[in-house]
Amino acid sequence: MAYPRNDGEPLGSVLLLPGDGIGPEVFREVRRVMDWFDRARGVSFELDEDLVGGAAYDQHGVPLADETLQKALDSDAVLFGAVGGPKYDDLPFDKKPERGLLALRKELGLFANLRPAKVFDALVSSSSLKPELVQGLDIMILRELTGGVYFGEPRGIETLPNGERRGVNTQVYTTSEIHRVAAVGFELARKRQGKVCSVEKANVMESGVLWRDEVQKLHDAQYADVELSHMYADNCAMQLVRQPKQFDVIVTDNLFGDLLSDCAAMLTGSLGMLPSASLGAAGPDGKRKAMYEPVHGSAPDITGQGIANPIAMLQSFSMMLRYSFDRDDDADLLDGAISSVLAGGLRTGDIMQEGMAKVSTSVMGETIIRELDKATST
Ligand code: IPM
Ligand code: MG
Repeated sequence: MAYPRNDGEPLGSVLLLPGDGIGPEVFREVRRVMDWFDRARGVSFELDEDLVGGAAYDQHGVPLADETLQKALDSDAVLFGAVGGPKYDDLPFDKKPERGLLALRKELGLFANLRPAKVFDALVSSSSLKPELVQGLDIMILRELTGGVYFGEPRGIETLPNGERRGVNTQVYTTSEIHRVAAVGFELARKRQGKVCSVEKANVMESGVLWRDEVQKLHDAQYADVELSHMYADNCAMQLVRQPKQFDVIVTDNLFGDLLSDCAAMLTGSLGMLPSASLGAAGPDGKRKAMYEPVHGSAPDITGQGIANPIAMLQSFSMMLRYSFDRDDDADLLDGAISSVLAGGLRTGDIMQEGMAKVSTSVMGETIIRELDKATST
């Protein structure tokens, strides 16, 4: 290989949290890929594994035990599967599996959520959009992850004197919350096509007016070299399916980011293809707290059948190599192997196309490992 093997110490500590539903199924494949990187590339980590979500609730009665949170805080990175399932639908809010995920994001201070939507050439025709609209698509949705309506106070459900019930959530952002995520957006754009589109609803929401103002101010003061535009969230949803290639980096709040990233995911053909990285502020040593997870969630409808697409999980590991451990070459190697296997015609059910070979989660994983062997054997 042109680039050096890592033959020294483990690169850092990683906490593995497979979670619920298809989480453990796609995790089996990422573990095998991690073993390959250890063996073939000397890329190893100090690993620990724990429960989160419904799995943690079954064991401890809470979706994230204090010890697990502590381990996450002490790790260089967290690799996360998925949480949730119908079994837990009737639990009170604070016991729901999703609270485990939200607590990790909040407690680790992971305010910047990177959700790249990239279309693999081999999958151009699995998108629900016309091939010419998505061919070569490469956008980055940057979602604010620790603020906004997800965490705003007051929140709750109350009963009014007249017996009616009232549900309240609060959309709230401060200058510093907006600046720190916008700065990440501008930095990302500088390494990409140099364009940021900031998305809110400044036409109806004060928090949106502030968002637009502050993003513009930060831009003018420090990032004038980046091309900045502003868009209302509803228009952005429309533009994403009308002409997605107009975007480079989209920076937006927690809720709009949740919606727009699902929408962008489908441009790539399947939610099973979308990884994500959630990053905190850089510490004194320059390192950021980080968690990597596929965007797809626990998928109860296909759990236990061995048919889930492991690619979003594998790409989440590749993002971890890139963003937490500076192993860009190894990340490229993995991304390249995934790309080759797709080009060779292998598909899981979610991205199945006519004339292709439909395979299970584990065959997809094994074939990607064989491809890694091939790519490094010369
Ligand atoms: C996501 C998910 C989560 C969210 C759920 C599982 C709480 O939809 O990561 O996009 O709403 O943030
Ligand atoms: Mg979502």
